Amino acid sequence: MKTVSETKIGFVGLGYVGTVSAAGFAILGFDVYGYDLDERKVTSLINRQPLIYESGLQEVLLDADISSRMHFVYDIDNLVDNADVIFVTVGTPESIDGSCNTSFVTQALESILSRLTERGLDSIVVVKSTVPVGFTQEFIDSLGNDEGICRNICFSPEFLREGSALDDFLNPSRVVIGTTDASIFETVAHLYGKYESKGVPILMMDPTSAELVKYASNSFLAAKVALINEFADLSHAVGANIDTVSRAIGMDPRIGNEFMRASVGFGGSCFPKDVSEIDHRSNSLGIRHPLIGSILESNRAHIERMTDRIDRCAKHQGIRTISILGLAFKPDSDDIRESPAIEIASKLLERGYVVKAYDPLAGPNALLALPKGIEILDNAYDCMNEAEMVTILTGWRSFRELKFCRSGSVRIVMDLANVLDGETIGAMGLEYHNITE
Ligand code: UGA
Repeated sequence: MKTVSETKIGFVGLGYVGTVSAAGFAILGFDVYGYDLDERKVTSLINRQPLIYESGLQEVLLDADISSRMHFVYDIDNLVDNADVIFVTVGTPESIDGSCNTSFVTQALESILSRLTERGLDSIVVVKSTVPVGFTQEFIDSLGNDEGICRNICFSPEFLREGSALDDFLNPSRVVIGTTDASIFETVAHLYGKYESKGVPILMMDPTSAELVKYASNSFLAAKVALINEFADLSHAVGANIDTVSRAIGMDPRIGNEFMRASVGFGGSCFPKDVSEIDHRSNSLGIRHPLIGSILESNRAHIERMTDRIDRCAKHQGIRTISILGLAFKPDSDDIRESPAIEIASKLLERGYVVKAYDPLAGPNALLALPKGIEILDNAYDCMNEAEMVTILTGWRSFRELKFCRSGSVRIVMDLANVLDGETIGAMGLEYHNITE
């Protein structure tokens, strides 16, 4: 078996997962190759200026030692010829019917396998893109039994979270490798040798189970957030404190205290898409799964209720101008995909408010997603200028440093990300609301 410094790993697809995983493996000492159909992504990484924001990524790309092990190429054949193990990390967007669109994965696999076959190489291909349950085995079966075709394909789900992806990569809770072939397992597990020595479980299972692990994990987490948000609403209605309730529930180790933070709702490129695909899959199999089916519905209803809460409060006080702080689907990210904040901002505009918005990183992306009528400002104070109500929707740490004062236009602060100290705001003579009460 090759040593770390001899093993070369390729990534076909340079979005969040591909770029972060390439950087992670380079940190671990591997030589990595990255390719994307989108030449802008390749060029940006050759220039060490990624198009995505991920905490710590820029520093890794600028670290001369690590960066010397990272190669980005415009030609997929160049990558296939060089890599011992090739990860497929292309997107699997949601189709109109809610199912997962695997066309980019299929295209990537076909290009990789055709080159491997042409060159008589037996490199291992690891599908890391989230693919529907059963996809990998069906793809392998579709290759038939012809001699000379490389069939070294397995599926390995990724569990990285945006905003802490590099840290998650270096400190995984487990590594799942979906293959029934012991030698494929051994080669891929070898890449994670450093983790194994730290006691991280490296699990071998069939590809279909590995695919279900990914969907079930995201569905569990999404359901947990949806449930705590329903309790946050109930808590608000009956005058309880959801933070206190959540802390007490989480002390039961069967429930746990992670993903128990009430919010304006979950978003991002994963939870909505993955829950939708698994719901679609149950339906297409003719199986009734009301719980899975209700996760997205619960989240949508919660976002609507959050909008109503802001609207009611503003109407009650005769407010016309609302400043929104936080547009990304979560802090430490510039990603606005399926962001509840984008939806709430758009709905408030529809309801006739003057809406201004600010986000420390997501402004440029939000500009493309928000309706024209919403002004996006470059800093929080400009955004709050002339607004009578400030509502915080994404819990950026930097918002804690904001100085509010009575002399400005702001009368009400609605902190739906629970980042501010209500007492300090109240002491300024401003009305303060948060998601807790
Ligand atoms: C999620 C999973 O956590 C990762 O394990 C997985 O690899 C990834 O999807 C994926 O499939 O690629 P991510 O979407 O980056 O990661 O972000 P999370 O930290 O999971 O947050 C998802 C949403 O839930 C965000 O909108 C976040 O604000 C919300 N959330 C999370 C809450 O509202 N409350 C919480 O307590 C936790």
